[in-house]
Amino acid sequence: MTKVTANDRIEELRRRNAEAELGGGSERQQRQRDQGKKTARERIGLLLDDGTFQELDKFVRHRGANFGLEAEHYPGDGFVTGYGRIDGRLVYVFAQDFTVFGGSLSEANARKVCKVMDQAMKAGVPVIGLNDSGGARIQEGVVSLGGYADIFLRNTMASGVIPQISAIMGPCAGGAVYSPAITDFIFMVEGTSYMFVTGPEVIRTVTHEEVTKEELGGAHTHSAESGVAHFAARDDPECLLLIRELMSFLPSNNRDDPPIGPTTDPADRREPALNDLVPADSNVPYDIKALIHAFADDGYFFEVQEPYARNLVVGFARLDGRPVGVVANQPAFLAGCLDIDASLKGARFVRFCDAFNVPLVTLEDVPGFLPGTRQEFGGIIKHGAKLLYAFAEATVPKITVITRKAYGGAYCVMSSKHIRTDVNFAFPTAEIAVMGPEAAVNILYRKELAGAGGDVETVRDRRIQEFRDTFANPYVAAEHGLVDEIIEPADTRPKLISALRLLETKRDANPPRKHGNIPL
Ligand code: HXC
Repeated sequence: MTKVTANDRIEELRRRNAEAELGGGSERQQRQRDQGKKTARERIGLLLDDGTFQELDKFVRHRGANFGLEAEHYPGDGFVTGYGRIDGRLVYVFAQDFTVFGGSLSEANARKVCKVMDQAMKAGVPVIGLNDSGGARIQEGVVSLGGYADIFLRNTMASGVIPQISAIMGPCAGGAVYSPAITDFIFMVEGTSYMFVTGPEVIRTVTHEEVTKEELGGAHTHSAESGVAHFAARDDPECLLLIRELMSFLPSNNRDDPPIGPTTDPADRREPALNDLVPADSNVPYDIKALIHAFADDGYFFEVQEPYARNLVVGFARLDGRPVGVVANQPAFLAGCLDIDASLKGARFVRFCDAFNVPLVTLEDVPGFLPGTRQEFGGIIKHGAKLLYAFAEATVPKITVITRKAYGGAYCVMSSKHIRTDVNFAFPTAEIAVMGPEAAVNILYRKELAGAGGDVETVRDRRIQEFRDTFANPYVAAEHGLVDEIIEPADTRPKLISALRLLETKRDANPPRKHGNIPL
């Protein structure tokens, strides 16, 4: 019998490692590349700092014994899991390898995912999942489904404790969509990724609708129509780069503060051009993003859910190096009205920022909630309430700038003084009232207008001017102490930075309870 040497053992390890790294084989890997997709390991390589990936459970095997599964094994069982670093900061990661049983979830690789999630929770670091899978491993039945449920539970327990990020880089269908759905941010890749609960075939049978995979659940659909996805990338490398970018704004966990980035942008930088940003005529739109770019460090704004509910802009910026979450009405779209989609978009973003200690900067120019039966029948009452609830329960530093309209309930909702906002600024162009002058005059002076005969327009104009002089300004609110300071728009950046510095040591809390009952 030949003696096995230490060198043989090393060779065996190397052979086994190489076998595991081949996934489902070079042919299937080539098929993946032909579709414009990277392999699981290539994706991890692009996501993490060079050479930092430490793989776990590389030799895990499935225990399936039916439908030929027993004869087919791939070391690692089609999920690549482990940890590594992004900009030097630790993250856990798992990537589904479509070349092995279509990246399907087995009992064994579900355990691998649960292991990294458990370890990430103990270490207090984010988990990033790269999804590309045919769903539950069909040959395994219920134990595979159980694997999903084990992951869903961990997603739920980790929510608000560590950031969880999902990239959809291939199929993600059926109940499998619910793990990404619970995570904080979903990235998709145009042309190669899709998500749906039931696919085109089932839809054709049940509802007789004809729809393609792309129309039903592609990157455009979910980033512009459904709001399920937060980012759509052109290809895998861009998607992974965007995740790295997002990570630079986030703390590792709910007890850490977001990372401070160095900046050479002076904290006292004024922007004189901003004094002309808001048009004198309050019905003329302007782009609120011009204000965000003007006050943010180096003009940089990392927008979230850009094509969805464009009447509300949300995203991350830095002020004096500190990450902030920006929530802004967009007068250039639907006049900045709050509707169902905008309320949902804003509420989820505000709650994320609050959970992870990201201060909130709110820019307000809102004529109110969008009127109409579609909105009322769709439940704008409960959806609008989500945004109100989210701002009210948030205990992070909160700063609001009213740039123009702050009308009606929307005034209260958009981080007003009354719901614990710390610093409330207003531009001289601010108009704070129950409603706009035209609508107010039509109600207050209905009888007078009806009796004015041929003079009706003159009377209306006079009354509107009267109302405008009384309410369409920030001074009444300032007299009540409901705005802390009326500022020149040019001073927005220095004022915001000064307020943030003031709030660095802010401590606030909500009453002890199991959890609140946000109107879902
Ligand atoms: C086991 C699977 C698989 C699965 C794909 N494969 N899905 N193996 N379980 N769920 C295997 C295929 O047999 C094939 O193996 C390889 O992966 C590639 O699949 P193809 O069909 O050749 O690829 P493609 O043409 O690109 O089509 C991809 C696909 C299709 C659209 C994902 O494979 C598909 O429809 N799969 C089934 C999807 C599904 O219905 N899953 C269950 C969803 S319900 P070979 O050996 O040929 O390479 C679900 C419940 C979750 O997941 C519940 C959570 C609560």
